[in-house]
Amino acid sequence: MTSPTITISPSGAALGAELRDVRLENLSEEEFHAIHRAWLDHLVILFRGQRLTDVDLIAFSRRFGELDWAPVQETGRRFVEGHPDFYVVSNVIENGVPIGSLGAGEAVWHTDMSYLEVPPKASMLYALEVPPAGGNTYFCNMYRAYESLPASLQLRISSLELKHDATYNSGGYVRQGLSAVDDPVASPGVYHPLVCIHAETGRKVLYLGRRRNAYIGGLPPAESEALLDELWFYASRDEIIWRHEWRVGDVVLWDNRCTMHRRDPFDPRSRRILHRTQIKGQAPRSG
Ligand code: OGA
Ligand code: MN
Repeated sequence: MTSPTITISPSGAALGAELRDVRLENLSEEEFHAIHRAWLDHLVILFRGQRLTDVDLIAFSRRFGELDWAPVQETGRRFVEGHPDFYVVSNVIENGVPIGSLGAGEAVWHTDMSYLEVPPKASMLYALEVPPAGGNTYFCNMYRAYESLPASLQLRISSLELKHDATYNSGGYVRQGLSAVDDPVASPGVYHPLVCIHAETGRKVLYLGRRRNAYIGGLPPAESEALLDELWFYASRDEIIWRHEWRVGDVVLWDNRCTMHRRDPFDPRSRRILHRTQIKGQAPRSG
């Protein structure tokens, strides 16, 4: 499939496509339209070989909507001076202080900032430095996760709400200003429907956020745990996953409403630096 200039090359997996022959710092309306369509169709889109300034990255991100402020980083700072909408993902330590979040360990399956009433609809990462090995990022298709559930399970969860824990980030770090709470019933967070309707495609998704401290409202804790384990089984099957191996200059844009992602650990002695923006969404609605 091609627009007048852009080539769209699907990954062959359940989601993901690479878009070629496009320079993101200089897009026509027509090109943007083709990119937006490809993003809704493929859930995660990849552009390789980009050379963007921070201002270019923000300008491209803004074409999708207003930006959300980045979460506060693990040191309590917001990083790129003058750009509160930038989140730095990095293991690099300068003068004893990490320049970004998530370290060099695994980042477990999650969707971004689902502990907010209104989570961002999209996140975009731009790779400035990548390690020689490891640090790959995996995405899963949550339309497919929903569709693969047995009908009885779809029915059972159709009116349930899930509490999305605000305590821990995907790297296992406690968020700024909060203290570690390991009781899913008591931990702070916000409730969203387990089955949501995607605001732009109208399709149903399973909306899980992250596993740690998750709690299905109203259920006895053991029942909530068992049901969540069952749902997570469907959400992390190989058939619905695409793996991305980073190169410098990659831009990856994903849809937080219908995907989750996780990251492999990498050698902490190597350097990995990515800049992230996040695009404002709407409160998730039930389906
Ligand atoms: C993120 C994230 C994973 C990675 O930026 O939201 O989860 O590959 N990053 O570093
Ligand atoms: Mn993330």
